[in-house]
Amino acid sequence: MKRVAAAVAVTTTTECTDAMAPPPPEFELSSNLEADLARVVRQLSTARHVVALTGAGLSVESGIPPFRGPGGLWTKYGEPPMDGYRRFVEDPAAAWRERLSPRAEWARALRDTLACARPNAGHLALAELERIGVLGCVITQNIDDLHAQAGSRNLLEIHGNHHLLRCLDCVRRFEPDAIEIDPDRLPPRCPDCGGVVKGDTVQFGEPIPADVLRRCYSEVERSDCMLVIGTSATVYPAADFPMEVLRRGGRVVEVNPTATEFTTSATDSLRGPAGALLSHLLDLSKREAGAAA
Ligand code: APR
Repeated sequence: MKRVAAAVAVTTTTECTDAMAPPPPEFELSSNLEADLARVVRQLSTARHVVALTGAGLSVESGIPPFRGPGGLWTKYGEPPMDGYRRFVEDPAAAWRERLSPRAEWARALRDTLACARPNAGHLALAELERIGVLGCVITQNIDDLHAQAGSRNLLEIHGNHHLLRCLDCVRRFEPDAIEIDPDRLPPRCPDCGGVVKGDTVQFGEPIPADVLRRCYSEVERSDCMLVIGTSATVYPAADFPMEVLRRGGRVVEVNPTATEFTTSATDSLRGPAGALLSHLLDLSKREAGAAA
């Protein structure tokens, strides 16, 4: 199923041009970091099941701002109210009117950047690491659809996907064009069970859909090595996954330009932008696999 950003066109008039993709950040690979990368590649090549947990930092190089820290959406606009889901359930028609033409400035800003974002070197490297058998699964907190567009296959979107719709009753997910959205007859209904349909994005206060959460924990329980990429590791349940791998005696490698609350727990930390570091990890992994072949 080819995924395109066009579906968002329903609610945005943003014209996407290639010039909108930010240039990759300047980055120098020090000899220490080269040694750290080589050590991590050996760990990945001997691991039983490698899982990558990704956050907003991975998509910064695709032009999508993070949530916290410098340039973060919440830093700029303040954290949104934590009761988005309760308000959806109380009045889904009103919530849909807000979705179709958002009044909140942060929502418009996020919608417009999502409309034009493309996978970056980091997303592509993870898809390739999966293809060559080094990486077993990607669990992402990002709703931006970029892992799917990059070709990741065993992909779990724990906070949903902004591109998709989901039935609140039967939890079936739909491409937007599979559901008739009539602004005069909101909320749209599930063609299968008649349930109320909402965006697949998990709102604040909304429980993580059980099917995704169950699969996340089964991947985490099998994992003896986790890459924690571009996340402040402060939002649960995702922030518990690396701790669970550590509790089971596994290794956790943090990939982030700056230290986070998780840094002291990580077994290894690679400091730098995800795009460049994951591309290096991929090149070294291919060389390692070649040498082993
Ligand atoms: N490469 C790697 N990491 C980066 C980069 C980069 N180029 N740029 C920034 N980062 C790091 C930041 O240092 C920070 O630690 O990415 C992290 C982003 O953290 P947050 O903005 O807190 O994003 P995330 O951890 O994904 O947030 C979790 O919170 O608001 C909710 O639902 C939302 O899924 C989101 C969740």
